[in-house]
Amino acid sequence: MEAVHHGVRGRGAHCVTCADLTALEEHIGDCRRCPLWEARTRVVFGVGDPHARLLFIGEAPGRNEDRKGEPFVGAAGRLLDELLTSIDIDRSQVYIANVLKCRPPGNRNPQLAEIGTCTPFLAEQVRLIDPVVIVTLGNFATKHILGTDEGITQLRGRFHIVGGRQVLPIFHPAAALYSPDKRQYLFADFALLRDTLDGVAQLARVSATALPAGAAGRLPFEIEGSL
Ligand code: URA
Repeated sequence: MEAVHHGVRGRGAHCVTCADLTALEEHIGDCRRCPLWEARTRVVFGVGDPHARLLFIGEAPGRNEDRKGEPFVGAAGRLLDELLTSIDIDRSQVYIANVLKCRPPGNRNPQLAEIGTCTPFLAEQVRLIDPVVIVTLGNFATKHILGTDEGITQLRGRFHIVGGRQVLPIFHPAAALYSPDKRQYLFADFALLRDTLDGVAQLARVSATALPAGAAGRLPFEIEGSL
């Protein structure tokens, strides 16, 4: 059964509205809104089809991503590519982003002020891309998007509704590199993803009006309160 969540707890200081992803990337620019800019090499905005049906959200860029300027390009990214291939999807067909756009030094955990600064950018990415399904990668992104303290082990493997959108939490691919027993769950969750996308495509064929009015422009989660 789907669980309904009310989304990320209020950590956004402001909303951003842009015409498209290019304008949003320009708006973020050479961001110095939080102290992460001091240690990062570059802002890692996100990559992929700007109108993808599938959006992956990770935690933050790591060392490889910080160097290349693209999310999930290291070992975890290679596993993500393998998982996508297992359901006949190419990386170019999806969109991949992170909660934080800059690498925390030494890959430390994101801090509240950093999350608050970056959350409006992620919210705007979701609004502009307007995906059918959001996949949250790992504990941090899942807790952030679902606005829950429940762990990924409890949440993975089933869909949750956040702000009217389907969200599928999965283990972080990096976790499966350290605990290979997690690989089977990742592949199982991707098979579920494939079935869901096929079901959505079938629904769209049956009735173009099957989606509730206004669903396309709905925000993924509420940004409430301020820091
Ligand atoms: N881990 C993440 O959460 N994001 C990346 O982009 C790379 C590794």
